[in-house]
Order: sequence, then C-alpha cells, then structure tokens
Amino acid sequence: MEKEKKILYSGMQATGTLHLGNYLGALKNWVALSEEYDCIYGIMDLHSLTVRQDPTAFRQNARRFYTLYVAAGLDPEKNIVYYQSHVSAHAELAWILNCFTYMGELGRMTQYKDKSQKHADNVNAGLFTYPVLMAADILLYQADAVPVGADQKQHVEICRDIAQRFNGIYGDVFTIPEPFIAKAGAKVMSLAEPEKKMSKSDENPNATIFALDDKDTILRKFKRAVTDSETDVRFDPENKPGVSNLMTIYSCVTGKDMESISSEFSGKGYGDFKIAVGEAVADHLAPIQKRYDELTKEKAYIESCIKTNDEKAAYLANKTLRKVQKKVGLTERIR
Ligand code: TRP
Repeated sequence: MEKEKKILYSGMQATGTLHLGNYLGALKNWVALSEEYDCIYGIMDLHSLTVRQDPTAFRQNARRFYTLYVAAGLDPEKNIVYYQSHVSAHAELAWILNCFTYMGELGRMTQYKDKSQKHADNVNAGLFTYPVLMAADILLYQADAVPVGADQKQHVEICRDIAQRFNGIYGDVFTIPEPFIAKAGAKVMSLAEPEKKMSKSDENPNATIFALDDKDTILRKFKRAVTDSETDVRFDPENKPGVSNLMTIYSCVTGKDMESISSEFSGKGYGDFKIAVGEAVADHLAPIQKRYDELTKEKAYIESCIKTNDEKAAYLANKTLRKVQKKVGLTERIR
C-alpha cells in the first residue's frame, strides 16, 4: 500500500506577471516538492483585492498565471492547482476565524504595517484581516507544511496560533502547519538594486526578468545588471550583493555550486559572467515559454484542469468547513 504523503499547501498572488524571483523562489521548488507531498497550490486572487485592481488586467493575469504554472511543470493532474475565489469555503472559514483572532495580534503583523504605509489612501479592513484569510487557506486543507518566503513566516505563525486556540476550545479540528522557509539560495534580488527583492512592480525596467521575456531582452537586462568595482566572481552577499545575486540565479538554473561558479569565471571578468548567466536563464526558460505558447492554444485543456481542480479543492475544503461549523454550533442544514 502506498504510504500516506504529507499535505503541503502554498500559493501566490496572481497580479502582474510572473518573474524570475517568483519562479526560482517558489514555482520551481513547487514542481520539485510534488513528488514528496500531496500538494495543493492556490492562486490567491481574494488576497489581491486588498489592493485596487483593474478588473480586465486582473482576470487576464490570473489566467496567465495558471497557464504558466502548468507550463513550468506543475502537473495539474498530480497536484491541486486552483483559484482561491472559486472555493467559497475560504471566505466562510475566514469569517469564523476572524472571531477567534485579536485586533492586537493582527496589528503586530509587519506586512500590515508596511502595506498600510505604502497604500495610505486605502488602508481597508481586508488589508488588516489578510492573515486570517491566509490562515483559512491553510487550515481548510489540513496542511502539514507551508513553503513560503521569509516575509510570510509571521503569517504562518499567526495561523498556528489561531489553529491552536481553536483546537484548545473545540478539540483537534485543525492540523497545526509547519512553515517551510525556502533556502536563502532561492531569494532572487533586483538586478538594478541588489539589496532589494526582485519585484514585478519595480519602476526600473531592467530590474526584473519576467518569465515570458524573450532571449534578447533577458541578455540585455543581465548585461546591465548592477555589480561592483571589483572583478572577481565570488559569493559574498554582504559586500558583493549584485554578483552574489547573479551567482544565485546561475546556480539555480544550472545546478552548479558557488565554488565551481567562481572557478569557472576566475580571471574572466564580469562581462563574460553576465552573458553566461543571461544565456543560462534564457535556455532554462525557453522550454517553459514554448509550452506556454502551446497551452494558450489548448484553451479547453486548461479550462478542464481549472474545473476539475476547483472541484477537488472544494471537496477537501468543505469537509473541514462543515466540521468547524458543527463545532461552533451553527445550525444544521436540512437535506
Ligand atoms: N500571502 C502570500 C504571499 O503574498 C500568499 C498566500 C495567501 C499564501 N494564502 C496563502 C501562501 C497560504 C501560503 C499559504 O506570498
């Protein structure tokens, strides 16, 4: 009999366009993890509403993300890949959990503090309760492990607190999830300001490599990548953030370690190194882009994946939601 695998849950917001940081930091690992775990990946479109979206672009980007996930190798028949907004249990559980979460603990969330400064004209209640919806996402699927970037660790911790509080009152309803922080190597920084994370909303067009950039664009952006005034290719994130970031990227796409990268480019200077990184990234993305183009023509296939996966996710989520509703004493449904 097949051993029961642990459940892994993660997700990404689907605004803008998928970039190399999203791909190397999350998506590529997700593909690797799908062997070891039963994986559920959400496209977190309800979370995206905490910031005002253009409806047409938002809808198109969310569809593009799904197609890119599949193109990048996330098998929608082995994993559950679905839209958060298509499973109404998320919003329903989030409401209940809101009643088990304190204003004080939400007010301490660093992302809330940052975002409410950044979007001072739109500090809405959704921004404040964002971590509660995220807790609902995770707890609905009884996830054991949640791989996230370091910036989301605090949100997984509050999720654990909420789950423990709930279990303390009602018995073992929720599995307590473990955060699973990606290795430092997977954190991709901006090519223009390597002290900052690579971001889709960077104003500098050379700072970010998008998953669908063509080869010339990729090579051009890497050639312009900010480095330092030395010449040696050496991994030292503190003193050489630009070069170290390029090494991280090169290592992720080629599988080579830092030492062998240093020796490969010793005495060659940054020019050759940047070209090599650009070529390696373009070669790595080429099959994904090709598959993406094919998939955009297979609309019926993608749509059937969305439908089946929404149903699978809803089945699991509703099981937990019904249990919670019963535990808190909501009145039974009459069938
Ligand atoms: N907040 C996460 C981010 O911005 C996305 C997210 C929403 C998520 N719900 C989740 C990640 C549940 C993991 C699990 O990156």
